[in-house]
Amino acid sequence: MGEIKTFKNNNSKDFISFFYEIVKYATLNLFKEEKSKVLNKILKKTVKFMNGVVGNIRIYNSRTKNLTLIASYGTSKKYIKDKKNIMIGESIAGVVFQKNKLLVVKDLRKSRTYIKPSLALEKKMVSLISAPLNIGNEKLGVFSLYYPFEKVFTRKEKEIYSLLSNFIALIITIQNIYYELSDTNIGIIKMIVKQLEEKDKYLKGHSENVKKYAIMIGKELKLPEEEIKILSELTSIHDVGKIFVDNEILNKQGELNEKEWEIVKKHPEIGAKIVSQIRRFKDGISIIRHHHERVNGNGYPNGICGDDISLIAKIVSVADALDAMLSDRPYRKALSIEQVKQELIKNKGTQFAPEVVDVALKLIEKGKITKKS
Ligand SMILES: [Fe+2]
Ligand SMILES: [Fe+2]
Repeated sequence: MGEIKTFKNNNSKDFISFFYEIVKYATLNLFKEEKSKVLNKILKKTVKFMNGVVGNIRIYNSRTKNLTLIASYGTSKKYIKDKKNIMIGESIAGVVFQKNKLLVVKDLRKSRTYIKPSLALEKKMVSLISAPLNIGNEKLGVFSLYYPFEKVFTRKEKEIYSLLSNFIALIITIQNIYYELSDTNIGIIKMIVKQLEEKDKYLKGHSENVKKYAIMIGKELKLPEEEIKILSELTSIHDVGKIFVDNEILNKQGELNEKEWEIVKKHPEIGAKIVSQIRRFKDGISIIRHHHERVNGNGYPNGICGDDISLIAKIVSVADALDAMLSDRPYRKALSIEQVKQELIKNKGTQFAPEVVDVALKLIEKGKITKKS
């Protein structure tokens, strides 16, 4: 490959070891880490290797027809906020996407064709290289790299840059396929849960209500965005394991006998097994497996207690109970808001996590959780 002078590590051996490193990282983390986290890491490594200072990756959104910033390195928070979406033809990335051709600008200050983009102005960038991200005929987005000095890109550098762009395009494609597949699977599971609830007037809307309460509590507890996302996706299917519980048992009017109760108690494990097939939600499986655990260890299926139960599972446990208490059941009418408060207080520290109960009570006080109309 010859010498690549302007790279920080200036020989092809270094390129091979760099490439080996990012391929290895991607292979190990592609399905483990969140989509943009993987791209951000690859971008950071790439910018550093290419001796650049600022880099970004934009992906084309066919719905909004925008190029959305999905990964960036060396940019300011303001840039990320202001320039999250750009239109095709707008700014340099927009032009590169439109023309579908690699672009290099040696000195943006002297360029008559290109207005200095805000990113370059803000960070005092002088030169750039920008390439479309393509897989076959499909245009996925744009990958751009900026330098704070005048830079002439050699043919070899452009080749390396194109190769890295192809690698990034490949990663994005694999992510897209994987996410589409897992979204489809989750969609099917949601449909099954809905069907299950539709058949039972007492369960109708249960999962969506639990989701609503869980998100409210999670936000009040200031959980990170990623955990709110997990709560939102998995709470609506927390009872999916019930599809394997006989309808007769689920709809039984009177009390369950011991054998029937044993069957019902299996639904968290069964649900967890179903959803664990979708690796992307691995971190949230505890929502499904442990939403009937109690902090004193008297719950099911595993009888774990205290901090062995994840916070998200503790939240769903309270959210689940809130919806149950606020709904009519075959054997009783819905509880009043005052009764719900008393139940939460009574079971605080035994069934429910105290910190979650406190937040639920606060939400009731604020009138955010009310009796259903
Ligand atoms: Fe359940
Ligand atoms: Fe439930």
